[in-house]
Amino acid sequence: MSILKIENLHVAIDDKEILKGIDLEIKENEIHALMGPNGNGKSTLLQTIMGHPKYIVTQGSITFDGNDVLKMTVDERSKAGLFLAMQYPLEIPGVTNSDFLRAALNARSEKPVSLFKFIKEMEKNIAELQMKPDLAHRFLNEGFSGGEKKRNEILQMRMLKPSLALLDEIDSGLDVDALKIVANAIRSLQEETKMGLIVVSHYERFYDSIKPTHAHVLIDGKIVMNGGQELVAKIDNEGYDWLYKQLNIKPIVQTNIQPTISLGSCGANRGK
Ligand SMILES: Nc1ncnc2c1ncn2[C@@H]1O[C@H](COP(=O)(O)OP(=O)(O)O)[C@@H](O)[C@H]1O
Ligand SMILES: [Mg+2]
Repeated sequence: MSILKIENLHVAIDDKEILKGIDLEIKENEIHALMGPNGNGKSTLLQTIMGHPKYIVTQGSITFDGNDVLKMTVDERSKAGLFLAMQYPLEIPGVTNSDFLRAALNARSEKPVSLFKFIKEMEKNIAELQMKPDLAHRFLNEGFSGGEKKRNEILQMRMLKPSLALLDEIDSGLDVDALKIVANAIRSLQEETKMGLIVVSHYERFYDSIKPTHAHVLIDGKIVMNGGQELVAKIDNEGYDWLYKQLNIKPIVQTNIQPTISLGSCGANRGK
């Protein structure tokens, strides 16, 4: 039985505290919806669990099956059964998708995975996700559309079969049909392996297919409300205003929004 336990977790980025005391426990076969307005720390929580070096844990603990996650390197976390499907998957030119996946699988097992079995398994998953077959042989995420990147994260998840998967806005960039395909691919693996899930999404439509067993709302680095599917539905219908009122808190003001790059100065220099 795998259990992720997070206690009093505080996390800072560049000396700014983003997570301010998170307590959360996720057991095998539980599906947790993690909601909250943008910029309040959802991705920070998932990236910290997976070990992104930018996110500094200043207090608190994370354990997985009783082991101290914060002492593990990212690849040790992955081998322990944790998996993160990123909100913004990275492109890695020079490494093909299939080489990447095979290396990740080989790193997990004592003997190298049989090439025949690997190809069969990958082709089965690519078909199930209705991805273009050539995506397996292209460089990882390079030139993939937004939706293809998201499907590719789920392809990785299905191949690696984690015991706890963290899915960060995996549904964004997917059209209605793709959403169904991806949701089914997540759901069927979850039913088969009983993995635990933390799912970040803004859409009830996605949660309808994933069927969370628990829901949490993260505002300003704290979990301010816990519930179940009814909480997901209420937020979908009413947004977060009622929560701010009920808890007597104010929305956080985003301070580090990237300035839009303008080409105006290029134009101004023309002819000089
Ligand atoms: N890599 C980073 N560098 C600097 N600031 C970051 C970084 N990641 C997140 N932040 C900041 O941390 C806060 C929480 O962001 P995030 O966890 O991405 O929120 P959410 O996923 O809920 O939208 C925001 O103010 C965001 O700008
Ligand atoms: Mg995010």
